[in-house]
Amino acid sequence: KFDAVIFDLDGVITDTARYHYLAWKRLAETQGVPFDEAFNEHLKGIDRMGSLDLILASAARSYTQEEKLALADEKNRHYVQLISTMSPADLLPGAVPALDACRAAGLKIGLASVSKNAFAVLEMLGITGKFDYVVDAAKIAKGKPDPEIFLKAASELGVAPERCLGVEDAVAGVASIKAAGMTALGVGDPAVLTQADRVIPGLDRFSLAV
Ligand code: G6P
Ligand code: MG
Repeated sequence: KFDAVIFDLDGVITDTARYHYLAWKRLAETQGVPFDEAFNEHLKGIDRMGSLDLILASAARSYTQEEKLALADEKNRHYVQLISTMSPADLLPGAVPALDACRAAGLKIGLASVSKNAFAVLEMLGITGKFDYVVDAAKIAKGKPDPEIFLKAASELGVAPERCLGVEDAVAGVASIKAAGMTALGVGDPAVLTQADRVIPGLDRFSLAV
């Protein structure tokens, strides 16, 4: 049924979604913006500046572009510090077996993360070599839920979108996969990832039978 599987990174392969949350929370609170897990759910899969705009929408004042860039840098410094000690021990259960199962089935494997830290995270996890193609987030114009990033991965892998399975933990990410015309495997809560074709709690339950 599939010729390629395209994975998201943060919250699927490793628990960096937690670190993005902590870094945004710290930044938001310096601006007097209340921040909790429920609000964070809307930020999952959303690129850096898009996330900042969503946070600052609840701030008491408006910000210049220069101020926004400085705040985005500050959040990234918090994030880079939080991920600095990552290692293969931070791979989520089932992540490597899922990648190896795709490889054993003869499928192409792609990574579609809008994170500009994705290459560094893959290196720290020791899994860069497991992917046939990793999208460079710096070259993507429209973040999730736009389908651009998943379509870019499919075209670089040489696989038609309808022969691709996308794997995502974020509402925006599942929307991106579906808008690309692919099958979506959600990782998380089925009550949240309502647009996914199937939802599993984690990659330890991964199978190609979607
Ligand atoms: C992923 C995460 C988001 C994060 C985005 C940008 O999509 O799910 O939470 O904001 O990447 O990450 P970056 O490392 O470029 O700030
Ligand atoms: Mg994610």
